[in-house]
Amino acid sequence: MSIGIERLAVYTPQYGLALADLAAARGVAPAKYTQGLGVQEMAVAPPWEDVVTMAATAGARVLRAAGVDPASIGMLLVATETAVDHAKPVSIFVHDLLGVGPHCRTYELKHACYAGTAALMTAADWVRAGGARPRRALVIATDIARYELGSSGEPTQGAGAVAMLVGREPQALILGDESGTYAGNVHDFWRPLGRREAIVDGQHSVDCYLIALAGAFQMYRALERPPFEPDEAFQDRVARMLYHTPFPKMAMKAHRRFAELDWRASHARWAQVEPRLEEAAAQSYVELAAPALTAVSRIGNTYTASLYVCLASLLEAESRMLTGRRVGLFSYGSGSCAEFFSGVVPTSAPRVSDTGIATQLRERTLVDVPTYERLARTGDAGGEPAAGFAGEFVFHGVRNDRREYGRVEPVAARASA
Ligand code: COA
Repeated sequence: MSIGIERLAVYTPQYGLALADLAAARGVAPAKYTQGLGVQEMAVAPPWEDVVTMAATAGARVLRAAGVDPASIGMLLVATETAVDHAKPVSIFVHDLLGVGPHCRTYELKHACYAGTAALMTAADWVRAGGARPRRALVIATDIARYELGSSGEPTQGAGAVAMLVGREPQALILGDESGTYAGNVHDFWRPLGRREAIVDGQHSVDCYLIALAGAFQMYRALERPPFEPDEAFQDRVARMLYHTPFPKMAMKAHRRFAELDWRASHARWAQVEPRLEEAAAQSYVELAAPALTAVSRIGNTYTASLYVCLASLLEAESRMLTGRRVGLFSYGSGSCAEFFSGVVPTSAPRVSDTGIATQLRERTLVDVPTYERLARTGDAGGEPAAGFAGEFVFHGVRNDRREYGRVEPVAARASA
């Protein structure tokens, strides 16, 4: 029985900031951000949006595109590390805004950037456990990456949500049966209660990420069937590699580590590759990893959603070429837990490949640094949307300690009104 992602939809806010502009304002060489980190632009969330509204907009779009009745969703999982309450889950707000029925298991998941994958795997297991029963889950990863203005993390912010329908008719990605995992308690990134911006030990986080990648991949590689030929590498079996991407250079570092580990594990292959390792690794990166980084280089870090922004971007750009081919995926969440898994792009993928990313990036407005700083300082205030708002749900604000949300007409309906 095939289980996997039936369809995806992405939502990212209507505003973006060019990293070259941010660099100029911070007195940093633009190439440090655009080449050193690989970020070209980052999404900026206005005060009338939060993780709930972004998740609900992505969810509404995926349900509408797939023609799925919200009442038929039996499991709604929302992954975020930008929770809006210590007790009340983001998922129940989303449940309400989407009109999902009462007979639904719904909750919020947190484990830094890994929670989106935890939700996807939980949903897939739930569908699998249902046997022939017609189970379909809605998994949404939604986050706003915020660091302090002027901090070293500032150029690695971003915002967005990815909604995925998970079920037994996977038209976007058939999930493989195996995965490799790796967990360990580290302090590389965290957000103490009461703080709006995260604390990150960035260089340590890079090291933790690479250690977790090695651990998860080595476990996964040992489970791979059929066994490898003496000169065969895992890379030969995949068409693309997708990584959790807090900034695109991280994916490059990750792929460099992965490629070497993979080749070293095949003795005959390592003997061929070792004399020209850097050249071979660079070539492997260009072929396998770089194609999935187009959208993240313009949206920035979306924490739990980042890996799935890469998947959506890849499917929009290359689904026709990738049909029948396998992709490898690596998810990392600080703190830490990581998972390495794979999936096959089915022949139906081109029919569901419009996830909305290219359209939203084309239509969004780039703001200047003073506007970005004003939006960042206004924070979680709520409000009424400005002209050009592309979302379908609005965060009005907090009254009597309760968050209030509302719906606006979808853009297409507004345009034709
Ligand atoms: N031109 C080109 N590249 C330049 C440059 C220039 N003028 N100046 C610096 N660089 C390069 C550096 O060599 C480095 O690349 P390398 O890592 O390949 O060597 C890169 O730009 C970044 O420079 P660095 O000095 O390491 O940046 P930083 O210490 O200011 O911060 C991070 C970088 C990533 C550590 C920081 O942005 C951060 O912590 N971000 C948060 C990441 C995160 O969210 N992690 C947790 C989840 S996984």
